[in-house]
Amino acid sequence: MTFPTVGVVGGGQLARMMQPPAVALGIRLRVLADTVDDSAAAVIPDVALGDYRDLPTLLSFAQGCDVVTFDHEHVPSAHLEALAAAGVVVHPGPQALAHAQDKAVMRRRLQDMGAPVPRWQQVSVTDDVVAFAKEVGWPVVVKATRGGYDGKGVWVVSDADEVDWVLSHDTVPGFLVEELVPFTRELAALVARSPSGQAVAYPVVETVQIDGICREVYAPAPGIDPDHAVAAQQAALRIAGELGVVGVLAVELFDTVDGVLVNELAMRPHNSGHWSIEGAVTSQFENHLRAVLDLPLGDPMARAPVTVMVNVLGGDLPDLYPAYLHCMAHDPGLRIHMYGKSVRPGRKVGHVTVTGDDVTECKERARHAASYLRGDIDE
Ligand SMILES: Nc1ncnc2c1ncn2[C@@H]1O[C@H](COP(=O)(O)OP(=O)(O)O)[C@@H](O)[C@H]1O
Ligand SMILES: [Mg+2]
Repeated sequence: MTFPTVGVVGGGQLARMMQPPAVALGIRLRVLADTVDDSAAAVIPDVALGDYRDLPTLLSFAQGCDVVTFDHEHVPSAHLEALAAAGVVVHPGPQALAHAQDKAVMRRRLQDMGAPVPRWQQVSVTDDVVAFAKEVGWPVVVKATRGGYDGKGVWVVSDADEVDWVLSHDTVPGFLVEELVPFTRELAALVARSPSGQAVAYPVVETVQIDGICREVYAPAPGIDPDHAVAAQQAALRIAGELGVVGVLAVELFDTVDGVLVNELAMRPHNSGHWSIEGAVTSQFENHLRAVLDLPLGDPMARAPVTVMVNVLGGDLPDLYPAYLHCMAHDPGLRIHMYGKSVRPGRKVGHVTVTGDDVTECKERARHAASYLRGDIDE
C-alpha cells in the first residue's frame, strides 16, 4: 500500500474541503485541529488534537505523514525549520511561507523582484505614517505586518489621531503603511506549483470584499482587459517560482487603470478559488494535494463560461439546515457548501456556487441563495 498520507495543520474549512478530492484519489488526510468541533475534524477520521504552536505536538503529528501542509499560515517559522531538520517534508516550506506570514517581508521581496506593489513603508511611530501620508496623500492604509485576516489588522486612517489609535494596539508586533489604492476592482490570480517546478494558472477572478471580508467571486473576472489578466497570471507564476512555493499560491491584486498591483499572498487554498470545485476541471483543493505530493497537476481551466461563488456569512439564524428545502427547490442548479461551523454573525460558515453562461443571472441566483440561507430574506 503506497497511497500517501498528507498531514494538514489546521482544522478549518480549507482542510475540510481537501477531503473530497483526497477521498476520490485514495489519499489519506490527517489533520491537526484545536478541537474535535473544528470544521475539518468532523470529516477527517484521522484527527490529532493539539496546539500548532507547540513543536513536540507538531513533531508527533508529522510522524507517519508523507508530507505536511497547511490550512493556515500561523505555524512559527522556527518550528517549520525544526520539522524540516527532523526529516519531515513540509510544503510550502518555511522560506516561502515567511512571505505569507509577514506583510512587510512580502512587500520587500516583491518590490526587490520588480513585481508591481502599492507604495508602502514599514512604520513604528505616528510621525512615520504622517510623513508617508504627506507624500502620497491622506487617507492611507495602516496594516499589522503579522496575524491579520478578513480585514482584521487593516485600518484606513485619515489623520494623526487615528494613526495614534491604531498604533496603540500593543498586541500587534509591527506595522506598515501603504497608499490607499484607487482600484477599479480586486482580482485574484491562483496558481499551483509542484516541487519539480510544474505550475498551472487558474483563470483570473474578480473578488468583492466588504469590510475586508471576501463576499463574492466571479470567474473569470468579467470583461477583464486581457493584458491585465495575463500580467496577473504571469506575476503569480513568477512569484511562485521565485519564492519556491509548493502547493497553491493565491495572489490578491488590485486592478487599476494603469495595470495590476499585488496586494498580498496566501500559500494555501484560498477563498478566491472555491469556485473551482464545480467551475474548473481540477479544483484548487485537488491541485494543492497533487502539488504537495509532487504529482502531475490537473487542468485548471474553467468548465463553464461563468462561475459565481458567494460566501454565506453567519446571520441571525442559528440553524441553516431548514433553509435547504426552499433553496434546493428554488434552484436545482445551486451548489451548497457548508463548513459545519456554528453560526456567529459575520463568520464564514459556507458558500454557494452557480455555474452558467450569464454572469448577471449567476450572481442573482447565488446571492439569493446566500441571503436566504443566512436568513436575510424569506422568499
Ligand atoms: N492599499 C490598499 N488600498 C485600498 N484598499 C486596500 C488596501 N489594502 C487593503 N485594502 C482593502 O482591505 C482588504 C483587506 O486587506 P488585506 O491586506 O488583503 O488584509 P487581509 O489579510 O485581512 O486579507 C483588501 O481586500 C482591500 O479591499
Ligand atoms: Mg487579503
